[in-house]
Amino acid sequence: MPNNKKTIFSGVTPSGNLHIGNYFGAIKQWVEMQNAGEYQNIFCVVDEHAITTLQEPAKLRSKILEVFTLYLALGLDPEKSIIFVQSSVSEHSELNWILSTITPVGELERMTQFKDKSQKQKSILAGLLNYPVLQAADILLYHTNTVPVGEDQLQHIELTRAIAKKFNNAFGQIFPLPEPFINKEAKRIMGLDDPAKKMSKSAENSNNYIALLDSPEIIREKIKSAVTDSGSEIKYDAENKPAISNLLLIYSLFSKKPISELEKEYAGKNYSVLKHDLAEVIIEGLSPVQKKYQELSANPDYIKKVLRQGAAKAKAIASQTMTEVRSKIGFLELSV
Ligand code: TYM
Repeated sequence: MPNNKKTIFSGVTPSGNLHIGNYFGAIKQWVEMQNAGEYQNIFCVVDEHAITTLQEPAKLRSKILEVFTLYLALGLDPEKSIIFVQSSVSEHSELNWILSTITPVGELERMTQFKDKSQKQKSILAGLLNYPVLQAADILLYHTNTVPVGEDQLQHIELTRAIAKKFNNAFGQIFPLPEPFINKEAKRIMGLDDPAKKMSKSAENSNNYIALLDSPEIIREKIKSAVTDSGSEIKYDAENKPAISNLLLIYSLFSKKPISELEKEYAGKNYSVLKHDLAEVIIEGLSPVQKKYQELSANPDYIKKVLRQGAAKAKAIASQTMTEVRSKIGFLELSV
């Protein structure tokens, strides 16, 4: 990879079912940026982040493989991008420790995701608090310039910048300050069961999201049971009609038709007509991805090869950064 290119880095936590919010909010941009050929592209399945909530080991292992395989099915290309699993590159946890020694606990306690998730833990685990430091390590290890993510990750990237600044000031310039990249149209897809909250992998009610691997029957059922707003007008008005606006947005993202065109097409029709057509548009949109996913899953040797290659390429960059970091902070330089 030529290293004069700017670097993009991003990842998904393999802690639930990848859904259309993850795709439109993040992965779609990754594929477009990859194909534009202007960046060094690095994409990670961030399994070390998944274990901040208790995971059943066999399930975690299959989720990691599922998310990795979905990355490929969605268009990430190992010839154009470094695609790997976080836990196969131990430098992530090594840098995490070092960065945690310069990160104030108060900063971590005010993270919105920490506040939400810690409410669900009886005794709050240190890993959950430290989660954004590990995220900063992920990003900084690769001298990342741009991080394509959904809106909910902005606070974590802001913190990453603060940590990078602090490190550079204390020990000398190493890390560029990463910028978030947000797709404004799809920065926050809302839950189908509650349009006041974002669509989420960790939602208890699976009717909250459309998973990328949901079958046509499940998609029809979920869209049918999606909440709607009072009244009957099909109109985009995020404040007063949040549920229908979210459905129109999803429809527009899948069909590539502007929302204004959909409003005209559905003027005078009722919600059930919109829902029926939306389900079919989603099924059609996901069908090639699901087909590709099945093909790839039938070839575990190929997946293993790509996993190994990705890990080796990521490790080569990460270990170089760690050599620099260790030297800056004053650790001994022994080659053993
Ligand atoms: P995660 O796994 O929750 O989400 C993965 C990506 O999907 C985006 N996203 C959404 N976008 C629009 N609408 C939604 N409803 C929606 N839900 C999720 C997220 O913004 C994200 O871009 N902490 C991160 C993973 C991570 C990471 C990193 C990301 C770890 N290290 C380094 C970037 C760089 C997370 O849990 O994302």
